[in-house]
Amino acid sequence: MTVIACIDDLKRLHRKRAPKMFYDYAESGSYTEQTFRDNTTDFEKIRLRQKVAVDMSNRSVAGTMIGQPVAMPVALAPVGMTGMQSADGEIKAARAAEAFGVPFTLSTMSICSIEDVAAHTSKPFWFQLYVMRDEEFVDNIIARAKAAGCSALVLTLDLQILGQRHKDLKNGLTAPPRLTLPNIVNMTTKPAWCMGMLGTRRRSFGNIVGHAKGVGDLSSLTSWTNEQFDPQLDWGKIARLREKWGGKMILKGILDADDARRAADFGADAIIVSNHGGRQLDGALSSIRILPSIVAAVKGQTEIWLDSGIRSGQDILKALAMGADATMIGRSYIYGLGAMGQAGVTTALEILKKELDITMALCGERDVAALGRHNLLVPKDFEGDWA
Ligand SMILES: Cc1cc2nc3c(=O)[nH]c(=O)nc-3n(C[C@H](O)[C@H](O)[C@H](O)COP(=O)(O)O)c2cc1C
Repeated sequence: MTVIACIDDLKRLHRKRAPKMFYDYAESGSYTEQTFRDNTTDFEKIRLRQKVAVDMSNRSVAGTMIGQPVAMPVALAPVGMTGMQSADGEIKAARAAEAFGVPFTLSTMSICSIEDVAAHTSKPFWFQLYVMRDEEFVDNIIARAKAAGCSALVLTLDLQILGQRHKDLKNGLTAPPRLTLPNIVNMTTKPAWCMGMLGTRRRSFGNIVGHAKGVGDLSSLTSWTNEQFDPQLDWGKIARLREKWGGKMILKGILDADDARRAADFGADAIIVSNHGGRQLDGALSSIRILPSIVAAVKGQTEIWLDSGIRSGQDILKALAMGADATMIGRSYIYGLGAMGQAGVTTALEILKKELDITMALCGERDVAALGRHNLLVPKDFEGDWA
């Protein structure tokens, strides 16, 4: 039996079990992938301060995110085409998150629809919105998310135009995959994935199909994004969207202190310091490196969450100790899903929680809320002297 000890073990299994085009879709960044690489290697530069002879009984990693109790300060980030990594993937991930006690965010570009995920879960989840040119579609999807009981709207601000991922171009990424010879040959080596897909009707973009008018080639994410996403999204439009939504709003993709101030002044319930997992602006700094400047700018005015690069409980601890109020994970749970479906997402969450708990104890802390810079050893030049 394969022993799963860490997130990297899940990643290896994901690679083995999911078709190449979907594994590559997850495991890539834009252009040279510099930012994608920095997201993880910058976490490694921060070290932890060990404390001994401290009472480490009665520990807790629980907390809240926008007032919602969470088993640990980690939410599942919105990930497009999750239902292509494993059949009905969004439903599986949402169920795993619900049972574990952490929030799940459904992407606009999901395979399972909002209604479908709501029908297969019992607690509210969050909905991530990409703003489209078609206002009627946007109004409609907001109304659908409300009707499904979604408890927060996560508005993604860093993808109005798509950063190029070379592998997706080369693989001819589509959902469902086109039945070309290389795809068929590759899929024959993934029997469990094929069986899962044959057993579900959810094989295209569930939130879009049947809801958007005049859509061109929907199977191609790239061309659809280029055609449909609204390049004119600005703060005025964000304000109008908030009026339409009328509930909690989280702004995702903030990577600059001035933008963070603007978002805090706007009254965002939370901001997500994120570079979209290195998939958009290649050459941007890693989220963890940018975090201190954003903490200095808006700490206490809005909740500050961080994603991009988290692969362990140690990374979560580092983000919290650097001043984030909570974190989000993308690939760490997608590896689990691609490896072992719903059980794999649960395993990923269990691994992260255990690592966070043990690391916290060895740092001499009993509560995640008490974590701070005193737990870290940060190189003096970590943030860099950029002009
Ligand atoms: C395969 C993949 C698809 C993604 N799709 C979306 C999406 O549809 N909407 C969105 O806001 N972010 C999307 N993201 C970005 C994630 O929400 C998150 O910011 C990122 O994965 C964090 O980095 P990490 O994967 O290193 O944890 C996607 C990320 C990945 C890896």
